[in-house]
Amino acid sequence: MQKNIVITGGSSGIGEGLAKYFYNKGWRVLTTGRNNAKLSKLAAELPGIYTIVYDSLKNAQENKVIDFIKDEWNGKLDVLVNNAGHVALTPLPEISRDQLEEMYQVHLIAPSLLAAGCVPFLSATKGQIINVSSSHGIKAYAQLSAYGSAKSGLNMLTKIWALELAPLGIRVN
Ligand SMILES: NC(=O)c1ccc[n+]([C@@H]2O[C@H](COP(=O)([O-])OP(=O)(O)OC[C@H]3O[C@@H](n4cnc5c(N)ncnc54)[C@H](OP(=O)(O)O)[C@@H]3O)[C@@H](O)[C@H]2O)c1
Repeated sequence: MQKNIVITGGSSGIGEGLAKYFYNKGWRVLTTGRNNAKLSKLAAELPGIYTIVYDSLKNAQENKVIDFIKDEWNGKLDVLVNNAGHVALTPLPEISRDQLEEMYQVHLIAPSLLAAGCVPFLSATKGQIINVSSSHGIKAYAQLSAYGSAKSGLNMLTKIWALELAPLGIRVN
């Protein structure tokens, strides 16, 4: 049976590469990004791929994806990849509330809310959540307070979800 995958941040880079890989393997792929022009270009290249404009910094964006899975895929989801994100190098004295909130929103809050909404779907398929982290979440680098701590937090979320969701048959890596 055809598998369904959601990949956040597929308008460029690693997410785009993953979207192409799974599309070419015959999976149904939904990917997201803020840049509609880049998503449209991807959709033109890969007919049948699904795209949604999704900005992790705005409230309730995860509902767009959750509603799509319910309405268009009859609630069937095999894999969720939380990939959207970006690095920012900022010396500590220059760091601002806005920067910190942005980093934690994109790398911690948005993936948590999306994963939470996808648990019922993934439980039904014994599916998988993949969180794209970074070596910066393990090894300390100067000027990466916000990004490094966000990715470090994402590593812990991955371990917590793996423990919590294992009884439902959902793997988390
Ligand atoms: N590249 C590396 O060497 C590397 C190493 C370790 C970890 N990572 C991690 O891998 C992931 C992908 O990185 P990449 O290098 O492929 O970056 P990228 O080419 O810049 O792509 C990032 C993707 O995330 C999306 N994104 C960024 N901020 C967002 C927001 N606020 N709301 C919604 N979508 C947002 C972007 O969408 P738009 O462009 O449409 O806004 C884009 O699709 C990130 O989590 C990054 O931290 C990358």
